Amino acid sequence: MSTEPLIRIEHLVHGYTMAKEQVTVLQDLSFEISHGEFVAIIGPSGSGKSTLMNMIGCLDVPNEGSYLLDGQDVRRLSDNRLAQIRNEKIGFIFQSFNLLAKLSAIENVELPLIYRGLPRRERRILAEAALEKVGLHERMHHRPSELSGGQQQRVAIARALAGNPPMLLADEPTGALDSRTGEEVMHMIRMLNEQGHTIIVITHDLGIAEQAKRVIRIQDGCLVEDRRNDL
Ligand SMILES: Nc1ncnc2c1ncn2[C@@H]1O[C@H](COP(=O)(O)OP(=O)(O)OP(=O)(O)O)[C@@H](O)[C@H]1O
Ligand SMILES: [Mg+2]
Repeated sequence: MSTEPLIRIEHLVHGYTMAKEQVTVLQDLSFEISHGEFVAIIGPSGSGKSTLMNMIGCLDVPNEGSYLLDGQDVRRLSDNRLAQIRNEKIGFIFQSFNLLAKLSAIENVELPLIYRGLPRRERRILAEAALEKVGLHERMHHRPSELSGGQQQRVAIARALAGNPPMLLADEPTGALDSRTGEEVMHMIRMLNEQGHTIIVITHDLGIAEQAKRVIRIQDGCLVEDRRNDL
């Protein structure tokens, strides 16, 4: 593990051009996230959370400032290299699971490993291990429609985990689940953090944010609070 923070964001500015007018959404953000942290990013609707998630997840690159992911300056990378870094460094968990309906659980989990170019046998082994980790090994041949919402989100977590990326990035991971199932999913996310995964959860749910060890709050694209949770 390097001493370099996993995420180093400095004076990041990002916005969109709308009807020829430049709208700044993220204003001069600076913060670092180290390996092994569990961070919640919160803020009201429209504050820039998804825009920031797109930055952190390398789905978009900042207009100004810098973002170093594991020491690499994402603004200097080609689109291909960026896609490769994304695949290696980040496991994504979405509110709506984003599983492919026609594929079984294990085939869904294998997808990012296919993009990584791993041979079939190796993919199987890693995907099975990831499903085992989330307690769904015996459901691996089920399709998403044959699984409950909580189980589908666990498959999505297995998919995020399978390639062993250092960081899991979750956008409202419990947003589509009832509170009990949501609690189970959060329990799993906490467990993964205890096992050493860096976790970043974007949420507007303060109950979820309280489970993180650190809370970053943004408002109108500015960082207005950065605190440790006393657990
Ligand atoms: N592609 C885009 N083009 C133009 N403006 C955008 C675009 N995406 C987001 N915005 C604007 O940026 C601001 C922040 O949006 P963002 O989606 O990051 O907010 P959010 O905090 O995720 O909100 P929510 O909690 O509702 O999901 C909003 O004012 C939005 O209108
Ligand atoms: Mg959003």
